[in-house]
Order: sequence, then structure tokens, then C-alpha cells
Amino acid sequence: MSPSTGFDPALLRSIAERVGTPTYVYSGNLIRAQYHALHDALKDVPHRICYSVKANGNIGVLKVLKALGAGADIVSVGELRRALAAGFEANSIVFSGVGKTASELEEAIRAGVGFLNVESPAELDTVIAVARKLKQRASLGIRVNPDVATETHPYTKTGEKTAKFGVPYDEVVSVAQRVAAESLFTLRGLAMHLGSQITDVEPYHRGTVKLLELVTALRASGIGTIEALDVGGGLGVRYHNEKAPSPRDFADAVAPPINQAGLALLCEPGRYLVANAGVLITKVLYRKHAGGKDFVVVDAGMTDFVRPSHYNAHHEIVPLKDGNRPEELVNVVGPICESGDFLALDRKLPAVEAGEYLAVLGTGAYGFVVRRTSTARSIPPRAARTSASSSSSPRKASFSRADPTRCSTRARRRPIRSSWSSVPRFSPSAMACSSWPIWRAAR
Ligand SMILES: Cc1ncc(COP(=O)(O)O)c(C=O)c1O
Repeated sequence: MSPSTGFDPALLRSIAERVGTPTYVYSGNLIRAQYHALHDALKDVPHRICYSVKANGNIGVLKVLKALGAGADIVSVGELRRALAAGFEANSIVFSGVGKTASELEEAIRAGVGFLNVESPAELDTVIAVARKLKQRASLGIRVNPDVATETHPYTKTGEKTAKFGVPYDEVVSVAQRVAAESLFTLRGLAMHLGSQITDVEPYHRGTVKLLELVTALRASGIGTIEALDVGGGLGVRYHNEKAPSPRDFADAVAPPINQAGLALLCEPGRYLVANAGVLITKVLYRKHAGGKDFVVVDAGMTDFVRPSHYNAHHEIVPLKDGNRPEELVNVVGPICESGDFLALDRKLPAVEAGEYLAVLGTGAYGFVVRRTSTARSIPPRAARTSASSSSSPRKASFSRADPTRCSTRARRRPIRSSWSSVPRFSPSAMACSSWPIWRAAR
């Protein structure tokens, strides 16, 4: 592996040998660096960073973020349970999602989540019915559809009026009045989430201004309970040659108007915090030449990491073996029986051989969590270094392990808890977090 990446290839190799491949490995230190950069940029406004659990729900990763002081942003009761299991206080949890069921709402209200974000008038009917049945108070937010466009992949745009997300802008005041009329509810905030992998901060500013216009309208109508504006997640990262916004750019776009209105700021980053804190290690199974193409067949497929085949996303791939080798143009493909099963097409890589390990970079977000099962393949294990120590010694490092390789059919039968409950304690060989390139994640 090129030394300029800052990874310690020997440590990654030793993890691969210890737990097998494909394997996800996460760095607590890189997550901390990202968190601190954003936290510092927002220091002039009262704020809370609510980590979006959907990006990576690994319990070790959640514990790192909880210890930093983050809240959590969730979209299902499964994520609620994981967040609570990792130690997040219910009051620090934001729960969004267009299709929350009555039983999910019940569990969330019983737990006392901090911001139960209503996404439609119809959902509010159910929230009212559930709260009345429980006779329990609830803290509500309204997820607003601000009708703000973003330049990102069409599948990850969520803030335009044609999207399924959020209460339509012109219906927000009437929904808020219904919430305010219910004695069991407190309307604590307005929220938006514009999309994911957003590389321009201007839409955040426009959306924030639109939310503040609503706050003014609500105050004028006698609703003065709004404490915070939640500007959502979506901050883009640099995977390849993208120009990711800095935390300071983001803060400048959203913090001043929120501060001026005397409100606190919530945000829900997922990818920004964890994407570049994770690698997927895969082993080269075979080399193959066919139809004028050179193939590198590896043991990680689209079922383990879907972003290249689903979004045509570019992820850097680096060999873990030292040595200068000539470069060649190859397709890095997985073992699944579909031609769409690839990690990289027409990619320049040093000439790699069967049996060696490759690291797929930038796989900490939307990697393991959106894996699929197919052809009865096993699920990749994960090794997360969760201690703050910078030691690179395998003996001293502390890791948590979740999702030991298991048969996919068994995992399906136990969908919610199978990936983290009753897993053995694990302390495999370490990964040199201290030598990971902070700039990679922080840019
Ligand atoms: C409501 C909500 N908040 C936050 C996020 C996190 O987005 P990202 O990982 O791009 O920061 C998402 C993801 O799409 C989301 O749907």
C-alpha cells in the first residue's frame, strides 16, 4: 500500500488474517477528529451533533460518538434500540422517517426520545392516538420539506417538494397548531434534511432561512416553544476528487441566522463522521484475462459493499502488500453471479496477485449497514478500535467486534439484534489509528 495513505498495512493484514475477509475495520481516532472539527466550527452557537446511526450502526462506533457528547439521529426502532444500547440518552435522540409505524411510535414515546419528528399530517394522527393511549407526554419536532434543491445523486436528494420526505412547507403552520393544541405534546423544533453527499453549503443556508421564516410565523401565531432548528445531515466527504465543504463553511452557512434567532442548532451528520474512518479489506481470489480485459476477482462483492455498483461510486483501492509494482488497468470484481458485481471498473492498480489483500477506502458509511445477503454468502465481520489510545500495538489496542461471520439465513431470522447482541469479546491485532491520515477525513 502506498505509504502516503497513512495506513499501517501490516496491521490491516494481521486483522484480515485473524478474522478473515471480507472485513470492515473502523478507526475511533478518525471519527473523533471529524467530530472535533465540526464541534469546534459550531462553537459560537449552542448545538448538538446528532450522529446519523443509519450511516454505520456498529455498536463500537456508536460508543465512540456517545463518549464525545453526540446525540443520535435514527429512522427506525432498530436504530433506537442500538442507540440506547450504546448509552445514548433518549432525550438526545432525534427520530425521523416517513413511515414510522404505531408500534415504533409507541416504543419511541415510551423511551422518551427528544425529538420525535412528524413527517405528515397523517402521521400526526397516529402520534396523537398513540400518545393518548399511553397517556404519556412527548417532545415533538416537525420535519419540514423546505423545497430546496441540491446537486447530488438523484437517489439521495430529499429536500425538494417532489420528495416523499417532510411536511410540505405550506402545511407546516397548520400541523404545528395541531401539535400545540395537544396537551401531551411540546413542539421543540423544526427540522430539515436536504440529502446526502452535499458538496455545496449554499442550500443549507437557504433551507435554514426558510425554517426561520416558519419560526417567525409560528411565533406570530402564539407558538413559542421552538428551541432548536435541526439542519439535517448530508455533509459531503472526499472519496476521490470531490470538493468536500469544510466544517467552517458549513457552520458559516447555518449558525449565524440560528444564533440570531436565539435558537440552538442540531445537525445529523452520518457520512461526514464515519465514511473515511472505515476500510473494507478483501482478498484477491483469482486473476483472469477475458475479452481483452484484466480482472481481479476478490472475495468482497456488491452484497458486502454496494456503493460502487448502486451509485457508480468511486472508492480508492490499495494493496496491503509492500513493494513497487507496475500499474495496470483492471476491473476489480466480486464473486456474486451478476455482471453488476464490481468494486471498480477500468481502475489503475499496481499489479496484484491471487492471495494478497486489498483495502477499499472510504467504506465506513453506508457500507456494512446496507449490505445484502445473496447466494447464502456469509456476512463480513467488523473490527472497530474504540479506545482513544494511539497505540498501534496489537496487544495494547482495544477493539470491539460485531457481526461475526454467520450464515445469512440465520441472520435474517434475527434481524434486529443479531448484528450486535451476544457477540464474543474480541481483541484482534490492531490497526494503527494514529497513522491514519487525518487530512483524508477532515477535508
Ligand atoms: C433524516 C436523515 N438525517 C441524516 C442523514 C445522514 O445523512 P449523511 O450520512 O449524508 O450525513 C440521513 C441520510 O440520508 C437522513 O435521512
